[in-house]
Amino acid sequence: MVCLAVSGLAAGEEKRVEDLLRQMTLQEKLGQMTQVDLGALKDRTDIARLGLGSVLCGGNTDPENNEPATWRRTVVQCQQLALQSRLGIPLLFGVDAVHGHNNVLGAVIFPHQIGLGATRNPRLVEETARVTAREMLATGIHWAFAPCLAVAQDPRWGRTYESYSDDPELVGQLGAAAVRGLQGGARVRTWRALACAKHYLGDGGTTEGVDQGNTECDEATLRRVHLAPYREAIRAGVGSLMASYSSWNGVKLHGHRYLLTDVLKGELGFEGFVVSDWAAIDQLSPNYKEAIERAITAGVDMVMIPNGPGQPNNYLEFLRLLAELVNEGRVAESRIDDAVRRILRTKVRLGLFERPMTPEGLLSRVGAPEHRAVARQCVRESLVLLKNERGLLPLSKRARHIHLVGQAADDLGLQCGGWTISWQGSTGAVTRAGTTLLQAVRSTVGPRTRVTYSRDLAGGTAADVIVVVLAEPPYAEMMGDRKDLSLSAEQLGLVREARASGRPVVTVLYSGRPLLLGSAWEDSDAFVAAWLPGTEGQGIADVLFGDARPTGRLPRVWPKDPRHLRSSEAAADPMFPRGFGLTYRTRGR
Ligand code: BGC
Ligand code: BGC
Repeated sequence: MVCLAVSGLAAGEEKRVEDLLRQMTLQEKLGQMTQVDLGALKDRTDIARLGLGSVLCGGNTDPENNEPATWRRTVVQCQQLALQSRLGIPLLFGVDAVHGHNNVLGAVIFPHQIGLGATRNPRLVEETARVTAREMLATGIHWAFAPCLAVAQDPRWGRTYESYSDDPELVGQLGAAAVRGLQGGARVRTWRALACAKHYLGDGGTTEGVDQGNTECDEATLRRVHLAPYREAIRAGVGSLMASYSSWNGVKLHGHRYLLTDVLKGELGFEGFVVSDWAAIDQLSPNYKEAIERAITAGVDMVMIPNGPGQPNNYLEFLRLLAELVNEGRVAESRIDDAVRRILRTKVRLGLFERPMTPEGLLSRVGAPEHRAVARQCVRESLVLLKNERGLLPLSKRARHIHLVGQAADDLGLQCGGWTISWQGSTGAVTRAGTTLLQAVRSTVGPRTRVTYSRDLAGGTAADVIVVVLAEPPYAEMMGDRKDLSLSAEQLGLVREARASGRPVVTVLYSGRPLLLGSAWEDSDAFVAAWLPGTEGQGIADVLFGDARPTGRLPRVWPKDPRHLRSSEAAADPMFPRGFGLTYRTRGR
């Protein structure tokens, strides 16, 4: 009999899994291995009819309207359908809750992982994951496709902000903390929610930081840099893992049997299940049947299928072709049983059979003040002070006039970045609660301080201090890949103009990665890297006005030379080394 250390099922639970497996037809087993995007499910009763194992909402998939209560109603409806299937196996519903329950309107949005990396605070990261789990559970959802364990090596990569650090040790430490926060720790009897470590393996190592590209290195490097954090996540009990679109030395991970099966499930003893990424197996071969064969035999246990009926490679097609492959002996039944066993055990471990529905009372907690307080604390601890000439910071709350400049000073969407409400994120009032830096400054200063704001410098040239806020536009995945990491001419011009006014200049940068600062560096008296802080802009004002001490330290090397952007190369002569960060004392009120 199989004996489990990490997934730790009791004998009775193990028996339940085996009993179920014995009763399942081949089609029912394949159903469990199928994960369909809600938008691709034209007929939701397919959940019951086909016994689907999982449904997800991708970055651009929402229920009919984006309200927490509607999310919940939709998830509950899907769950009811799963319970009506012949064997009544509960459904696992998944979302990209990667910085809070970020698809849902009104949910608290945490800093993206790069900002959490700057906090270097595992206890706080664990707390963010616990809060995220609570907001997910409120909407009936048990599964987050997080944390991302990428060890991003090249900031040209559009997913750099999803990576805690370019240091495998810090990624492992914080990734494990996130797993504990989401699930509840390796030793708890019943998991709170399910984490998904992604993207296995080497997503952050691709040449020139190209998304979904090729990670070229020897095996020792792959293990030291990219595999190391997975050991920590597995030790923390992570129950699922997502394969990477990327390749290692030209071989796509989704078809990489050595890495998915021999190393991960064998050597590392991973007992959870592997889910494929969004239509990723389709890339293994132009022939879908062959693609399925490669992925499943390599060790993928559940397949994420976004396309709807009528399109190529939809879930009906997947189920039909995988059945053929098994009947033809091209995919072993033992492989299918292994996959289904892993999925069912996870469902047992989540307590889904006993409590498929989460308590409705949690709904009022989505975006709750105590959740926002945790996010605000993250923002405070994530800011990295890079420069502070003549002790310009902290600012006085009794200054006569403070001027903020730049669209980002009053734009929640720019604060939050990608994976916020929509896949790519957007500018403007993306969600309905939260605080921009402008609002935060206004509620921080004393009654006699004038706070003004303009996109350009209008009305600000006589202020006591000018706060320039610069931002990268929101992006996600490949859309965020850049060749040139310089600030734009417009951004440089704004800081230059502020400087020309002769007033002291504080520059705050919202970005998913270190950028080449050019003249904005000399033109600023103080400079704060704020990453993508999320909805709680008050945390920035807390630091700027000295209610909180800056304690953040760079989670990655900050390059200086456009020819040496990759951390390993930039480290020789960086703008700032990893770990850099200035501070000052808090100021009495
Ligand atoms: C991304 C994953 C994400 C998935 C589901 C993919 O494109 O690479 O990180 O979890 O979509 O939205
Ligand atoms: C993302 C999905 C998103 C989709 C949009 C994928 O790559 O991961 O979450 O909804 O693209 O087409």
